[in-house]
Amino acid sequence: MPGVVVVGTQWGDEGKGKATDQLGDKVDFVVRYSGGNNAGHTVQVGGERYALHLLPSGILSRRARPVLGNGVVIDLEVLFEELDALAARGVAVDRLLISANAHLIAPYHRTIDRVTERFLGKRRIGTTGRGVGPAYADKASRIGLRVQDLLDESILRQKVAVALEQKNQLLVRVYNRPALSADEVSDHLLAYADRVRPLVADVSRVLNEALDRGQTVLFEGAQAHHLDVDFGTYPYVTSSNPIAAGACTGSGVGPTRLDRVIGIAKAYTTRVGEGPFPGELTDETGQRLRETGGEYGTTTGRPRRCGWFDALLVEQAATCNALTDLFLTKLDVLTGWPKIPVIVAYDIDGRRCPVMPMTQTELHHAKPVYEHLEGWSEDISGVRRFEDLPPACQRYVRRLEELVGVRISGLGVGPDRDQVVMVRPLL
Ligand code: GDP
Ligand code: IMO
Ligand code: MG
Repeated sequence: MPGVVVVGTQWGDEGKGKATDQLGDKVDFVVRYSGGNNAGHTVQVGGERYALHLLPSGILSRRARPVLGNGVVIDLEVLFEELDALAARGVAVDRLLISANAHLIAPYHRTIDRVTERFLGKRRIGTTGRGVGPAYADKASRIGLRVQDLLDESILRQKVAVALEQKNQLLVRVYNRPALSADEVSDHLLAYADRVRPLVADVSRVLNEALDRGQTVLFEGAQAHHLDVDFGTYPYVTSSNPIAAGACTGSGVGPTRLDRVIGIAKAYTTRVGEGPFPGELTDETGQRLRETGGEYGTTTGRPRRCGWFDALLVEQAATCNALTDLFLTKLDVLTGWPKIPVIVAYDIDGRRCPVMPMTQTELHHAKPVYEHLEGWSEDISGVRRFEDLPPACQRYVRRLEELVGVRISGLGVGPDRDQVVMVRPLL
């Protein structure tokens, strides 16, 4: 089973970190292929919590070699802070590989991210403020800085100077901010060059050769389908392609090398930041889901918006990502509700729509149509076999499987590494 992708099917924070960690000991490489330190992946091992932002969660496994692919944007300060913090906790971090083609998040990207949001006012995206969007914008505009530029001081200095010619106009004239010195920015980035040099690799070649040898490569998605810049709720999205296809463009392996695509879905729905969310519960039900699920962002600490499971969201992700399996997390959070509503359609201006609508206008008009499933009251956090789950809980899982059209292969029944019910092996 050589090429496996783990991908979020909702708006992020589905528990991808924990699902990846489940597979870590069975894979040879674990690759982040998109996004940057806007991600927040929490993994709990024997009561110890690890919060990862830029590095793949698979770094916590002893076997898998961690990789940052070309599709990732890297804030060097964050990278080394995260590596040092893990090393201090005894995690082996010296085997990391970084693509020479990955782009850098420069200090001015963070500044621009924050001031742009302030200028957007009510229309802000609610970004994580980490400079991710502006770094991808520069990549597309062909004025970005890449990891390999750190290996050639004169190229790096030239590229920073070119980028700042534009940025300084924007900062000074539009945003009323002081201009930045090209020398200072270059010095700041070059200060990391010696630490970066031994980690830089031709990641595409390394991964293709590993796959040729029959080794297993796990592509760890950050963010999620509905935050994808092409398929998400644009413009309320992140600026990359977290979908499974992004594993190819973001690491340099061809689509025929992907054998399995595991979608991660929470047993209900959450979203951080702005943007449409037809099933959002702004009442005390939403508040109760937030409290029982501990729905506060790993990266920014913001309260997550909550709602019941929306089958339309996950069905679209299943189709577009060609999911082979679904891993349903946080099922334990639903314990204790007599009835559990599930969104099975939208009512859009009086029309019943069984799948995600095509346009943003329709999505803004969508009202959820619920089916009410029977709940359960037994504590399921200690259950490890599907047949030991309360019958109503089993029926809940089976109904979701039917609505989404993908087999559910694993269930999360608590935050810890071993709190899972495996229906069939993921690898
Ligand atoms: P990610 O961004 O998709 O990796 O998800 P986050 O780490 O941002 O958020 C998921 C949160 O849920 C984390 O705090 C996890 O420890 C926790 N979690 C994951 N799976 C489960 C589960 O099955 N049950 C419970 N109660 N918590 C879980
Ligand atoms: P993980 O990997 C949830 C959201 C932000 C904002 C939008 C754009 O933990 O699932 P950005 O800083 O990327 O330009 O912000 O995307 N967002 C996430 N929401 N989980 C994430 O990552 C997210 N990464 C970005 O809240 O709405
Ligand atoms: Mg997260």
